[in-house]
Amino acid sequence: MRCRICGGKPIIYMPHHRLALCKEDFIRWFENYTQKTIKEFRMFSKEDRILVAVSGGKDSLALWLVLRKLGYEADGFYLHLGIGEYSERSKEKVLNFAHRVGAQVHIVDLKEEAAGIPELKEVSSRETCSLCGLVKRYYFNKVAKDKGYNVVATGHNLDDEASSLLANVINWNMKYLGRKYPVLKEEEGFVRKVKPFCRFTEKETALYSLLMGIDFIEEECPFSEDASSIFFKEILNSIEERSPGTKMRFYLDYLRKVYPIFKKEEKRDLKRCKICGEPSPSEICPVCRLKERSLSLKGS
Ligand code: FES
Ligand code: ZN
Repeated sequence: MRCRICGGKPIIYMPHHRLALCKEDFIRWFENYTQKTIKEFRMFSKEDRILVAVSGGKDSLALWLVLRKLGYEADGFYLHLGIGEYSERSKEKVLNFAHRVGAQVHIVDLKEEAAGIPELKEVSSRETCSLCGLVKRYYFNKVAKDKGYNVVATGHNLDDEASSLLANVINWNMKYLGRKYPVLKEEEGFVRKVKPFCRFTEKETALYSLLMGIDFIEEECPFSEDASSIFFKEILNSIEERSPGTKMRFYLDYLRKVYPIFKKEEKRDLKRCKICGEPSPSEICPVCRLKERSLSLKGS
Protein backbone atom coordinates (compact mmCIF):
# COMPACT_ATOMS: atom_id res chain seq x y z
CA MET A 1 0.00 0.00 0.00
CA ARG A 2 1.19 3.53 -0.82
CA CYS A 3 0.22 7.04 0.28
CA ARG A 4 -2.46 8.15 -2.17
CA ILE A 5 -1.02 11.67 -2.46
CA CYS A 6 2.74 11.23 -2.69
CA GLY A 7 3.21 7.48 -3.15
CA GLY A 8 5.34 7.34 0.01
CA LYS A 9 5.09 5.00 2.96
CA PRO A 10 1.66 5.28 4.59
CA ILE A 11 1.19 5.42 8.36
CA ILE A 12 -2.56 4.94 8.29
CA TYR A 13 -5.20 3.29 6.14
CA MET A 14 -8.77 4.52 6.58
CA PRO A 15 -11.11 1.93 5.09
CA HIS A 16 -14.17 4.21 5.31
CA HIS A 17 -12.40 6.68 3.00
CA ARG A 18 -10.46 3.99 1.13
CA LEU A 19 -7.47 6.17 1.83
CA ALA A 20 -3.88 5.46 2.85
CA LEU A 21 -1.69 8.43 3.80
CA CYS A 22 1.86 9.17 4.91
CA LYS A 23 2.60 11.32 7.95
CA GLU A 24 2.73 14.73 6.23
CA ASP A 25 -0.26 14.06 4.03
CA PHE A 26 -2.29 12.71 6.93
CA ILE A 27 -1.69 15.92 8.92
CA ARG A 28 -2.70 18.05 5.94
CA TRP A 29 -5.72 15.85 5.19
CA PHE A 30 -6.85 15.95 8.85
CA GLU A 31 -6.80 19.75 8.96
CA ASN A 32 -8.45 20.16 5.55
CA TYR A 33 -11.13 17.65 6.44
CA THR A 34 -11.89 19.56 9.64
CA GLN A 35 -12.33 22.69 7.53
CA LYS A 36 -14.59 20.75 5.18
CA THR A 37 -16.78 19.59 8.05
CA ILE A 38 -17.02 23.14 9.42
CA LYS A 39 -18.11 24.37 5.98
CA GLU A 40 -20.46 21.56 5.05
CA PHE A 41 -22.36 21.78 8.32
CA ARG A 42 -22.12 25.59 8.38
CA MET A 43 -20.66 25.51 11.87
CA PHE A 44 -19.00 28.93 12.05
CA SER A 45 -16.92 31.47 10.18
CA LYS A 46 -13.89 33.63 10.87
CA GLU A 47 -16.25 36.28 12.27
CA ASP A 48 -17.41 34.05 15.11
CA ARG A 49 -15.86 33.89 18.57
CA ILE A 50 -15.35 30.27 19.51
CA LEU A 51 -14.89 28.78 22.95
CA VAL A 52 -13.36 25.31 22.83
CA ALA A 53 -14.32 23.13 25.79
CA VAL A 54 -11.05 21.46 26.70
CA SER A 55 -10.69 18.55 29.10
CA GLY A 56 -6.96 17.93 28.69
CA GLY A 57 -7.72 14.87 26.54
CA LYS A 58 -6.46 14.33 22.99
CA ASP A 59 -9.63 15.26 21.12
CA SER A 60 -10.33 18.63 22.66
CA LEU A 61 -6.70 19.78 22.61
CA ALA A 62 -6.31 18.64 18.99
CA LEU A 63 -9.48 20.53 18.08
CA TRP A 64 -8.21 23.68 19.71
CA LEU A 65 -4.93 23.40 17.82
CA VAL A 66 -6.57 22.74 14.43
CA LEU A 67 -9.02 25.63 14.80
CA ARG A 68 -6.20 28.02 15.60
CA LYS A 69 -4.10 26.67 12.74
CA LEU A 70 -7.05 27.23 10.41
CA GLY A 71 -7.14 30.85 11.55
CA TYR A 72 -10.27 30.84 13.73
CA GLU A 73 -10.57 32.92 16.85
CA ALA A 74 -10.67 30.08 19.36
CA ASP A 75 -10.00 30.29 23.10
CA GLY A 76 -10.21 27.49 25.62
CA PHE A 77 -12.46 26.77 28.54
CA TYR A 78 -11.59 24.29 31.26
CA LEU A 79 -14.03 23.22 33.94
CA HIS A 80 -12.22 21.84 36.97
CA LEU A 81 -14.49 18.99 38.05
CA GLY A 82 -12.84 18.31 41.39
CA ILE A 83 -12.14 14.66 40.55
CA GLY A 84 -8.96 14.35 42.65
CA GLU A 85 -5.62 13.89 40.95
CA TYR A 86 -7.27 13.30 37.58
CA SER A 87 -8.58 16.87 37.52
CA GLU A 88 -5.30 18.32 38.73
CA ARG A 89 -3.32 16.55 36.04
CA SER A 90 -5.74 17.40 33.26
CA LYS A 91 -5.75 21.07 34.28
CA GLU A 92 -1.98 21.10 34.08
CA LYS A 93 -2.11 19.66 30.56
CA VAL A 94 -4.55 22.36 29.50
CA LEU A 95 -2.48 25.18 30.98
CA ASN A 96 0.71 23.90 29.37
CA PHE A 97 -1.01 23.55 26.03
CA ALA A 98 -2.53 27.05 26.21
CA HIS A 99 0.94 28.38 26.88
CA ARG A 100 2.35 26.43 23.94
CA VAL A 101 -0.17 27.80 21.45
CA GLY A 102 -0.27 31.24 23.07
CA ALA A 103 -4.03 31.13 23.56
CA GLN A 104 -6.31 32.35 26.29
CA VAL A 105 -7.97 29.81 28.56
CA HIS A 106 -10.84 30.44 30.96
CA ILE A 107 -11.04 28.25 34.03
CA VAL A 108 -13.95 27.62 36.36
CA ASP A 109 -13.48 25.54 39.48
CA LEU A 110 -16.59 23.55 40.30
CA LYS A 111 -15.56 23.30 43.95
CA GLU A 112 -15.71 27.06 44.21
CA GLU A 113 -19.06 27.15 42.45
CA ALA A 114 -20.66 24.36 44.47
CA ALA A 115 -18.73 21.13 45.07
CA GLY A 116 -16.75 18.63 43.02
CA ILE A 117 -18.45 15.91 40.98
CA PRO A 118 -17.90 13.15 43.62
CA GLU A 119 -19.58 15.32 46.29
CA LEU A 120 -22.40 16.43 43.99
CA LYS A 121 -23.04 12.78 43.22
CA GLU A 122 -23.94 12.31 46.89
CA VAL A 123 -26.80 14.75 46.62
CA SER A 124 -28.03 13.65 43.20
CA SER A 125 -29.87 10.60 41.98
CA ARG A 126 -28.25 10.82 38.52
CA GLU A 127 -25.48 8.54 37.31
CA THR A 128 -22.10 10.23 37.71
CA CYS A 129 -21.51 10.74 33.98
CA SER A 130 -24.96 12.12 33.34
CA LEU A 131 -24.58 14.47 36.30
CA CYS A 132 -21.20 15.54 34.98
CA GLY A 133 -22.66 16.07 31.49
CA LEU A 134 -25.41 18.26 32.90
CA VAL A 135 -22.96 20.43 34.82
CA LYS A 136 -20.60 20.72 31.84
CA ARG A 137 -23.35 21.74 29.41
CA TYR A 138 -24.51 24.39 31.88
CA TYR A 139 -21.09 25.97 32.38
CA PHE A 140 -20.03 25.72 28.73
CA ASN A 141 -23.09 27.70 27.77
CA LYS A 142 -23.01 30.14 30.66
CA VAL A 143 -19.31 30.94 30.47
CA ALA A 144 -19.48 31.39 26.69
CA LYS A 145 -22.29 33.93 27.09
CA ASP A 146 -20.66 35.71 30.03
CA LYS A 147 -17.35 36.05 28.19
CA GLY A 148 -18.83 37.08 24.83
CA TYR A 149 -18.37 33.91 22.73
CA ASN A 150 -21.18 32.86 20.42
CA VAL A 151 -20.04 29.30 19.67
CA VAL A 152 -19.01 26.42 21.93
CA ALA A 153 -16.96 23.71 20.21
CA THR A 154 -16.39 20.28 21.70
CA GLY A 155 -14.00 17.54 20.61
CA HIS A 156 -16.56 14.73 20.20
CA ASN A 157 -15.35 12.27 17.58
CA LEU A 158 -17.15 9.72 15.42
CA ASP A 159 -16.78 6.98 18.03
CA ASP A 160 -18.39 9.22 20.67
CA GLU A 161 -21.21 10.25 18.37
CA ALA A 162 -21.95 6.83 16.88
CA SER A 163 -21.88 5.07 20.26
CA SER A 164 -24.22 7.55 21.91
CA LEU A 165 -26.45 7.35 18.86
CA LEU A 166 -26.58 3.57 19.18
CA ALA A 167 -27.35 3.77 22.90
CA ASN A 168 -30.19 6.19 22.26
CA VAL A 169 -31.58 4.24 19.33
CA ILE A 170 -31.67 1.11 21.47
CA ASN A 171 -33.66 3.00 24.08
CA TRP A 172 -35.65 4.95 21.47
CA ASN A 173 -34.87 8.14 23.26
CA MET A 174 -36.77 10.40 20.88
CA LYS A 175 -35.98 13.63 22.68
CA TYR A 176 -32.29 12.98 22.44
CA LEU A 177 -32.46 11.84 18.83
CA GLY A 178 -34.15 15.09 17.87
CA ARG A 179 -31.12 17.00 19.11
CA LYS A 180 -28.39 14.68 17.90
CA TYR A 181 -26.67 16.82 15.29
CA PRO A 182 -23.16 18.28 14.98
CA VAL A 183 -24.53 21.82 14.97
CA LEU A 184 -27.16 23.05 17.37
CA LYS A 185 -28.16 26.54 16.39
CA GLU A 186 -28.27 29.32 18.93
CA GLU A 187 -31.65 29.86 20.50
CA GLU A 188 -33.03 31.93 23.35
CA GLY A 189 -30.48 31.63 26.17
CA PHE A 190 -28.20 29.22 24.32
CA VAL A 191 -25.09 29.78 22.23
CA ARG A 192 -24.41 27.62 19.16
CA LYS A 193 -22.86 24.18 19.84
CA VAL A 194 -20.65 22.47 17.29
CA LYS A 195 -18.64 19.26 16.92
CA PRO A 196 -16.09 19.74 14.11
CA PHE A 197 -14.43 16.33 14.74
CA CYS A 198 -17.64 14.34 14.39
CA ARG A 199 -16.40 12.59 11.24
CA PHE A 200 -13.01 11.51 12.64
CA THR A 201 -12.57 8.16 14.35
CA GLU A 202 -10.86 7.99 17.71
CA LYS A 203 -7.90 6.39 16.00
CA GLU A 204 -7.55 9.37 13.65
CA THR A 205 -7.71 12.03 16.38
CA ALA A 206 -5.24 10.02 18.48
CA LEU A 207 -2.83 9.77 15.57
CA TYR A 208 -3.07 13.48 14.80
CA SER A 209 -2.44 14.38 18.46
CA LEU A 210 0.54 12.11 18.58
CA LEU A 211 2.03 13.42 15.34
CA MET A 212 1.60 17.01 16.50
CA GLY A 213 3.28 16.23 19.81
CA ILE A 214 0.26 17.21 21.88
CA ASP A 215 0.85 16.43 25.54
CA PHE A 216 -2.58 15.19 26.60
CA ILE A 217 -3.90 13.26 29.58
CA GLU A 218 -3.98 9.61 28.66
CA GLU A 219 -5.80 8.22 31.66
CA GLU A 220 -9.56 8.06 31.51
CA CYS A 221 -11.73 9.75 34.09
CA PRO A 222 -12.02 7.29 37.02
CA PHE A 223 -15.80 7.31 36.63
CA SER A 224 -15.70 6.27 33.01
CA GLU A 225 -14.93 2.63 33.81
CA ASP A 226 -18.50 1.62 34.22
CA ALA A 227 -19.82 4.12 31.70
CA SER A 228 -22.18 2.49 29.26
CA SER A 229 -20.65 4.56 26.43
CA ILE A 230 -17.56 2.33 26.55
CA PHE A 231 -19.76 -0.72 26.20
CA PHE A 232 -21.45 0.72 23.10
CA LYS A 233 -18.10 1.74 21.64
CA GLU A 234 -16.92 -1.84 21.99
CA ILE A 235 -20.01 -3.16 20.26
CA LEU A 236 -19.52 -0.76 17.36
CA ASN A 237 -15.85 -1.66 17.11
CA SER A 238 -16.61 -5.34 16.80
CA ILE A 239 -19.19 -4.61 14.09
CA GLU A 240 -16.63 -2.39 12.38
CA GLU A 241 -14.08 -5.17 12.43
CA ARG A 242 -16.41 -7.51 10.60
CA SER A 243 -17.75 -4.86 8.29
CA PRO A 244 -15.38 -1.88 7.87
CA GLY A 245 -17.09 1.44 7.25
CA THR A 246 -20.22 0.59 9.23
CA LYS A 247 -19.55 3.08 12.02
CA MET A 248 -19.27 6.00 9.63
CA ARG A 249 -22.27 4.88 7.60
CA PHE A 250 -24.42 4.39 10.70
CA TYR A 251 -23.73 7.95 11.84
CA LEU A 252 -23.77 9.79 8.51
CA ASP A 253 -26.89 8.02 7.26
CA TYR A 254 -28.57 8.97 10.51
CA LEU A 255 -27.71 12.62 9.92
CA ARG A 256 -28.89 12.50 6.33
CA LYS A 257 -31.92 10.24 6.45
CA VAL A 258 -33.21 9.93 9.98
CA TYR A 259 -32.41 13.16 11.82
CA PRO A 260 -34.72 15.27 9.63
CA ILE A 261 -37.61 13.06 10.75
CA PHE A 262 -36.73 13.03 14.45
CA LYS A 263 -36.08 16.72 14.42
CA LYS A 264 -39.79 17.33 14.33
CA GLU A 265 -40.08 15.61 17.69
CA GLU A 266 -38.06 18.34 19.24
CA LYS A 267 -39.97 20.86 21.27
CA ARG A 268 -38.39 22.67 24.13
CA ASP A 269 -40.48 24.55 26.57
CA LEU A 270 -38.02 26.39 28.74
CA LYS A 271 -38.40 29.00 31.42
CA ARG A 272 -35.68 31.02 33.09
CA CYS A 273 -34.14 29.83 36.35
CA LYS A 274 -35.20 32.14 39.19
CA ILE A 275 -31.74 32.07 40.69
CA CYS A 276 -29.23 32.19 37.83
CA GLY A 277 -31.40 33.26 34.89
CA GLU A 278 -30.27 30.37 32.67
CA PRO A 279 -32.80 28.45 30.54
CA SER A 280 -34.44 25.80 32.67
CA PRO A 281 -37.26 23.22 32.46
CA SER A 282 -38.37 24.23 35.98
CA GLU A 283 -38.49 27.34 38.17
CA ILE A 284 -35.06 26.57 39.54
CA CYS A 285 -32.59 24.96 37.16
CA PRO A 286 -31.04 21.55 37.93
CA VAL A 287 -27.60 23.07 38.55
CA CYS A 288 -28.87 25.65 41.03
CA ARG A 289 -30.77 22.87 42.78
CA LEU A 290 -27.57 20.88 43.00
CA LYS A 291 -25.78 23.92 44.36
CA GLU A 292 -28.42 24.33 47.06
CA ARG A 293 -28.20 20.70 48.04
CA SER A 294 -24.42 20.82 48.10
CA LEU A 295 -24.63 23.50 50.80
CA SER A 296 -25.88 20.80 53.14
CA LEU A 297 -22.67 18.92 52.43
CA LYS A 298 -20.58 21.92 53.38
CA GLY A 299 -22.58 22.38 56.56
CA SER A 300 -22.15 18.79 57.66
FE1 FES B 1 -17.36 13.63 33.84
FE2 FES B 1 -15.84 11.60 34.18
S1 FES B 1 -15.41 13.40 33.10
S2 FES B 1 -17.76 11.89 35.03
ZN1 ZN C 1 -30.08 28.20 37.85
